[in-house]
Amino acid sequence: MLHYKDPVGGDATSSNQVLCSIDEADGGAYEFSLIAPDTSEFDTDCVVVGIADDGRFSTMTANVDDATSGRLSDLIGHGLLPAKLGATLLVPMDGPGDVRASLLVGTGPDCTVEPGQFRKIVEAVHEELVKYGIGDATLYLTGIDVRSKSDHWKVQQQVIGFGVAAYRFRGVHSESGRSTLRRVSIAASGALEPALREGRAIAGGVCTARRLGDASPNVCTPGFLAGVARSLADRFERVSAEVLDEEEMSGHGMNALLSVGQGSAQPSKFVVLEYRPEDGAGDAPVVLVGKGVTFDTGGTALKTRTAMARMKYDMCGAAAVIATIRAVAELQLPMPVVGLCACAENMPGSRATRPSDTVTSMSGQSIEILNPDAEGRLLLCDALTYAERYRPAAVVDIATLTGASLVALGRHYSAMFANDDALARDLLDAGDESLDKLWRLPLSEEDISQLDSDYADMANMGDGTAGCIVAALFLSRFAGSLRWAHLDVSGTAKTHGEKPAATGRPVAMLMQYLLQRSRATTGGPP
Ligand code: BES
Ligand code: ZN
Ligand code: MN
Repeated sequence: MLHYKDPVGGDATSSNQVLCSIDEADGGAYEFSLIAPDTSEFDTDCVVVGIADDGRFSTMTANVDDATSGRLSDLIGHGLLPAKLGATLLVPMDGPGDVRASLLVGTGPDCTVEPGQFRKIVEAVHEELVKYGIGDATLYLTGIDVRSKSDHWKVQQQVIGFGVAAYRFRGVHSESGRSTLRRVSIAASGALEPALREGRAIAGGVCTARRLGDASPNVCTPGFLAGVARSLADRFERVSAEVLDEEEMSGHGMNALLSVGQGSAQPSKFVVLEYRPEDGAGDAPVVLVGKGVTFDTGGTALKTRTAMARMKYDMCGAAAVIATIRAVAELQLPMPVVGLCACAENMPGSRATRPSDTVTSMSGQSIEILNPDAEGRLLLCDALTYAERYRPAAVVDIATLTGASLVALGRHYSAMFANDDALARDLLDAGDESLDKLWRLPLSEEDISQLDSDYADMANMGDGTAGCIVAALFLSRFAGSLRWAHLDVSGTAKTHGEKPAATGRPVAMLMQYLLQRSRATTGGPP
């Protein structure tokens, strides 16, 4: 467990007392292993096999059926089978070996499914295993054909699907409520250990991002995020953490960033996390930049009660950055990755910025703060300028930046903007591969005049049309000559409705991007 005690001084809040932890077990709730699909040793409680609507088993399961002397085929003879994709049927068994049950899961009309459907099948299986209190399962799901996907991908998805589904937010509840499932064997042939390792690290990253996102805003303050970053540096030898306080930020001229936290009693923090591999530490890094607004009241442009309700999730960009660095360090990727988190709380205190205040950013460009609720871009612009010092290979910022991106794209695609087509393509590929999808929107030059201001080089908002594009255009003025992409994750970082929860997006996509990049440079496994 990583313990971190919130160091907030001065105003006594209950967070002084709360001891929060980032669970080391995240993504590691289960003991995963690979087994040969044709093994005749069944030391497992439950075998899990895919079956199509017409009663055909997916490949790899023949030896399971043989071992049960055709018990499974008999059932199908009786017309008992899951009727649709993701539906399940638990069948009590008496052997072979230790097997006490088999779980049949429907794969739809035939044995070939789409990548997203495979993930649904994995999640349905996890839910059933937990529901029946099964402690040990062997999955034969790699035998399901997934359109255009390798066994490597299928194994990775099983580990991620299970690892992420094991996540439970504990908050300050007293009970931990772990499921009984412990050991998960995945039937697959070939040298797929890397898929297992990657899946574990990615699941751990996704869970970390979820845990930080779900944490209460009186616990998860800028100082808390800084503490989490420091504890990552303590845990991983190749990670270093540096935290700039307000005075140091002021020294750098980060006045746009500092303006956001001015109305809050919580001091703002700028978190610098650097991962350097043993070899290639001097290569140009990928720099990830995260928006870490630990609560967004709108400042003096106060939000309504309903609009404000979910604004503890406004630090999900920073959470994704911290979580990705954790996964990178765990996998010991052969390339440097830097995480920059701009952390502040947007409150309407007496020192808060007013609509029409002007500030000068670290880049020297001045900004008229027409709307103190458009604070994310104020944090990020200085973080982007800071990123220049790394001469990065690429910069990707991640932010819950605008409600407009949620309106435009909904909950399934994160909005992506880029000033470089190759970077955009790489990120889109990574999104498809990880099922953590992006949709590219234009940096339309025609809209840039929306930012014209009579009082400063630019205003921090436009006329209300194309809101997420205008926000991206604002940032593009600070990206300068960087190879840069911006992800607006307002719609995807958390679920919506009655009980919202952090999703951990886009950690899986970022990890896929970094893995693809490291394979391209080292020529490692596919
Ligand atoms: N954090 C919000 C964006 C947001 C809204 C994220 C809803 C998730 C769900 C951001 O700081 C904000 O308030 N943006 C304003 C910008 C506007 C004032 C130009 C918005 O989207 O209304
Ligand atoms: Zn915000
Ligand atoms: Mn805001």
